[in-house]
Amino acid sequence: MARILIADSQDEDRKLLVQALSYESHLEVVDTLEEGSELVSLVGPLNVDLVILDQELPGPNPHDLVGRLRRQYRHIGIIITGSAPAIGDLRAAMQAGADDYLPKPFDPPAVSDSVEVVLRRVEDRRHEAISADAGSGPHAAKVIAVYSPQGGVGKSMLACNLAVVLARESGRPTVLVDLNLQFGDADLMLNVTPERTIAAIIQRMNQLDGDLMESFLTLHEASGLKMLAAPARPEYADTITVFVVEKVLQVLRERYTYIIIDTPSFLQDTTLTALDHSDEIVLLTALDLLALHNTKTALAMMQKLRYGTDKVKLVLNRSNADVGISPDDVEHTLEYEISAYIPSDGRVAVTSVNEGEPFVLSQPKTQIAQAIRRIAYQVMGREDDYLDEVPEGPVGPAHRGGGGFLRDMFRR
Ligand SMILES: Nc1ncnc2c1ncn2[C@@H]1O[C@H](COP(=O)(O)OP(=O)(O)OP(=O)(O)O)[C@@H](O)[C@H]1O
Ligand SMILES: [Mg+2]
Repeated sequence: MARILIADSQDEDRKLLVQALSYESHLEVVDTLEEGSELVSLVGPLNVDLVILDQELPGPNPHDLVGRLRRQYRHIGIIITGSAPAIGDLRAAMQAGADDYLPKPFDPPAVSDSVEVVLRRVEDRRHEAISADAGSGPHAAKVIAVYSPQGGVGKSMLACNLAVVLARESGRPTVLVDLNLQFGDADLMLNVTPERTIAAIIQRMNQLDGDLMESFLTLHEASGLKMLAAPARPEYADTITVFVVEKVLQVLRERYTYIIIDTPSFLQDTTLTALDHSDEIVLLTALDLLALHNTKTALAMMQKLRYGTDKVKLVLNRSNADVGISPDDVEHTLEYEISAYIPSDGRVAVTSVNEGEPFVLSQPKTQIAQAIRRIAYQVMGREDDYLDEVPEGPVGPAHRGGGGFLRDMFRR
């Protein structure tokens, strides 16, 4: 499904465009705007594939908008519309990075034609980025493990949504590895049906290379994310050794820029191997005593293993829960800085799991989705590109107090 954003101040023209595109079942107009000030900031959260904008759009200069869109979202399609364009306008739009120009008054078949051509170009750009990466030999891959010593704290929720944002918005090949070998559920969260899982790799270990690896991966169509699923049955988990995990990561590194690992909370040797081979560990915690206690122990272990602050990033889930412990207390207790906050939103999180559609796709404008997009931009090292719609810092009521009591509990 291609997602389209229309920006035009003329009611009639907007309606005409929406109507012309509504006949195509693979196209969806996700929003319409009458002026341009919010345009760039909406493209990411709405997961837009194609922007159709009028060159007379009120607000910022439309050609500047085209330039900003192109710099920030290299792969999207951009169509400029306008009546009686001067040659100079056309050139300026194309030079800024537009893909096509549609003259007004609109002719519906010409609209569909232009949209199809530009969407094909978007697809080509995405594939080119992937094959350019595949062909370029060693490249800067980044392995990110999402870990927490606490069960049910939101690891899979974060791993799946983070991987989907990275796949869609980085323009880089991204893969999710479900290392929750006994009870992996990333396939359910993404609503995909893996034909093969990591268990099948064992018989082919000696031949395992990038091409063969592709045959074990499952595609998540809506985002382009690939996934290596956990074994279909818990009893196969034991067959996955440390050696298998090392080999899998080594082979994935050759082709994928972002490799996200979902982990179990139980620290088995395969999890430790994954943490050791990760460039970054997202250590997820929550505002409850048990989680904090376990996180403290995990941090101590990681410090012993000489993982530095550049490797271990502490992320606080359900950061706005009003439970008598504040984010400040967490930092004091753990003596560790929180890198990111994810607010609690049961409705969005649970519906998303039940429907098998990651909320960064189905509910991109919610605070919980925005918080995860922000983490994705941190991972990409593109924090400056992240256009903020959520306030900085702890999201929601930051409950203070209780610090002394907590500090006492953890002082040993
Ligand atoms: N910020 C949040 N707001 C609301 N619900 C959340 C939030 N984070 C996680 N949840 C919900 O909590 C439940 C547990 O999340 P999840 O399965 O991701 O945890 P987990 O750490 O992977 O668990 P396990 O240790 O069993 O693998 C899910 O139903 C999820 O939707
Ligand atoms: Mg999980």
